[in-house]
Amino acid sequence: MYAGLWERGPLLGKGAFGSVFLAKPTSKFRSFPSLMAVKSAEISVSATLQKEKEVFDNVQGYAFVIHCFGEDSTVEDNGDMVYNLLLEYASGGSLRDLIRNSGGCGLPESDVKRYTKCILKGLNHIHGCGYVHCDIKPENVLLVNVSASTTDGAHFVAKIADLGLAKRSWQRKKMRMDLRGTALYMAPECLIECVQEPPSDIWALGCVVCEMLTGKSPWDRGKKFNKRDLFNLIADERELPEIPTGISSQAKDFLKACLVKKYMYRFTAEMLMDHPFLDGLDDEELPAVTCVSGT
Ligand code: ADE
Repeated sequence: MYAGLWERGPLLGKGAFGSVFLAKPTSKFRSFPSLMAVKSAEISVSATLQKEKEVFDNVQGYAFVIHCFGEDSTVEDNGDMVYNLLLEYASGGSLRDLIRNSGGCGLPESDVKRYTKCILKGLNHIHGCGYVHCDIKPENVLLVNVSASTTDGAHFVAKIADLGLAKRSWQRKKMRMDLRGTALYMAPECLIECVQEPPSDIWALGCVVCEMLTGKSPWDRGKKFNKRDLFNLIADERELPEIPTGISSQAKDFLKACLVKKYMYRFTAEMLMDHPFLDGLDDEELPAVTCVSGT
């Protein structure tokens, strides 16, 4: 459908399920923003991308989830059929870039609060639509500038991206556990009981907030783990993720509420939005975010 309506620009990043390029709409495509991102995969390996489109269709239209524009499209590219998803462009890169550029010691707590509130709003929406994201990590949180006139960090909001591993929540039918998500963010119940539900996203959020605050994972034990060792550590009832020192007591309490090992006792996204860590951060203080949409 979009052939000739946008031109592919430089590569922005490569993920396990597709490559992301900058996309510029041609003059025929006037109602869309001047820059977009296109996620592409060769048709034979595009199942995850096609599933992602289906999830986007069901959670669409919320300001704290990256927007997916209109229809999917398959175009011929140098003789190969390529499946494309047209996405809202996040000019601020990912939370991973921001943490990396913080010099290993984390972000100011005021920024962490703002990004945490955005992610919570996005998660609350996704969970309310009946989905679990299943791959919350700093790479999958993108920063979008909501000011047309400044690139100052205070005008960036965080939006949840990469819905390719999302699944329907609380299905009675037991699903096969998908362990493709990154091990560092995996909740204990995923490994112990093969349960991956909304609380599992909250656990992953706790790991992300810890990294934003300190630059380090709560599982950082000063050595590199392979995936199996890490799975054993997370699943071991006696092992607890490390709550860092040198952060505010509200921040510590927030992390403890996310990183409860038993998922039945973990706070929900809705409960966490009222947590004292986020006090003083009224919705009005988040930069004005409107949902982007095309057509
Ligand atoms: N990398 C992955 N998705 C992206 C997006 N929507 N915008 C910018 N960079 C990205």
